[in-house]
Amino acid sequence: MEMYISIDFNNMMEEKIGRKHGIGDDEIDSFADQCKRIHNDILSKRSKGELPFLDLPYQDIKGIMSLSDEITSEFDNLLVLGIGGSALGPIALISALCHPFHNMLSRERRMGHSRVFVYDNVDPDAFLGLLEVIDLSRTAVNVVTKSGNTVETLAAFLIIRERLRETVGKRYQRHIIVTTDPEKGSLRKIAEDEGYRTLSIPEKVVGRFSVLTPVGLFPASVAGIDIEELLNGAALMDKRCQELEAWRNPAQMTALLQYVTERKKGKKVTVMMPYSAALKDIADWFRQLWAESLGKRYDLSGKEVYTGQTTVKGLGVTDQHSQLQLYMEGPNDKTIVFLKVERFTEPMEIPVAFQDMNDVSYICGHSLSELINAEQRATEIALTKVKRPNMRIDMPELSPFTVGQLLYMLEVQTIYAGGLYNINPFDQPGVEEGKKLTWGIMHRPGFEDKRQEVEDARKGNKKYII
Ligand code: PA5
Repeated sequence: MEMYISIDFNNMMEEKIGRKHGIGDDEIDSFADQCKRIHNDILSKRSKGELPFLDLPYQDIKGIMSLSDEITSEFDNLLVLGIGGSALGPIALISALCHPFHNMLSRERRMGHSRVFVYDNVDPDAFLGLLEVIDLSRTAVNVVTKSGNTVETLAAFLIIRERLRETVGKRYQRHIIVTTDPEKGSLRKIAEDEGYRTLSIPEKVVGRFSVLTPVGLFPASVAGIDIEELLNGAALMDKRCQELEAWRNPAQMTALLQYVTERKKGKKVTVMMPYSAALKDIADWFRQLWAESLGKRYDLSGKEVYTGQTTVKGLGVTDQHSQLQLYMEGPNDKTIVFLKVERFTEPMEIPVAFQDMNDVSYICGHSLSELINAEQRATEIALTKVKRPNMRIDMPELSPFTVGQLLYMLEVQTIYAGGLYNINPFDQPGVEEGKKLTWGIMHRPGFEDKRQEVEDARKGNKKYII
């Protein structure tokens, strides 16, 4: 119990911020039947193997661990190439659970583990910059793509493959590890033809729900994270999310709180604001999970619904000096979700000095961990006083076990929310059009009509270009 994460949602409730912005117990209870249906639907789909991401805590990780050992002993660096769910998961895990400057530590300080870099863009300057600082002859490259066809990942892969061939000659195949669908996609075929080492993403797990597959687990393990403990944390949360009643089920309750505040109280924006720099990339990962899963034009019956909440990531205390003014006095259209860490690795005491200066001396003898948590507390009270709904996820400490709980809870929360909105949280039809237009511009055969559309769209009115 001591290592359980907990959710304090007092400041979301009517009791604290009034009925206009806050939720009444009766409003939660009015969803009991709907939640029961969603819960049973999840259970039934899970038993039929339709929601395999829910069973990831119980997977066999021996293959991932042994490949990770091989790579760690063979290479100094692992470069992950992926985008969206194929990059945000590994980034989130490494930021949360490795030393903040892991890649700058000596191998000894990294306990023999490799450096891990993740590249998730096609900005040539940024990519060139990265290639200038890593020695490819000492680098393994993990190409991650569920579909096996994502243009950004393929482009980066082709560049790296060529550079590896130039640098290490015929041995380049030993440097490439592909994480992709067990059967489908161009990358799977290329990997088989060229003889790369591969890892599989279970067929029905989509990108943004893949952090606990080899997508996240392999780079995490190479970086030295205890992935078994991560899955133990997820398994614990799985047990907690088996509860039928929202009042005892963390994922169901947080989904409901977000849904009711969005639908009934007009909170169209949700801000995830960790008071821990290590968790800022989990906020980024969640930003994609919530936005891409719930931002939908049609519901399951085909009705136009335009659902979703705009997800914003913040960072305490940094954003107190950037965004907080808006959250306090701007439109009351947000819920703020704080992530708080009780015990940091090192409290870091503030030395005693300048005792004759009252503006300075009051902080002396306290610690940075006291200060960051005092600021979190103060911010939540200040927001509550002006009736801004907020809740807090408390983590006793940052560890694979607590992070596993958090990630799993947020994933399950997202599918409950999908059920409440009656939409499909696993697709992303809205991004297809942009992809097709890009293919048209890049001369992909079969997309000539899209190229023409792009030509036509170029004909803008000069008046509107200054
Ligand atoms: O969540 C998703 O499914 C997407 O964000 C994908 O992760 C992203 O588009 C990358 O896809 P892929 O892994 O197929 O390259």
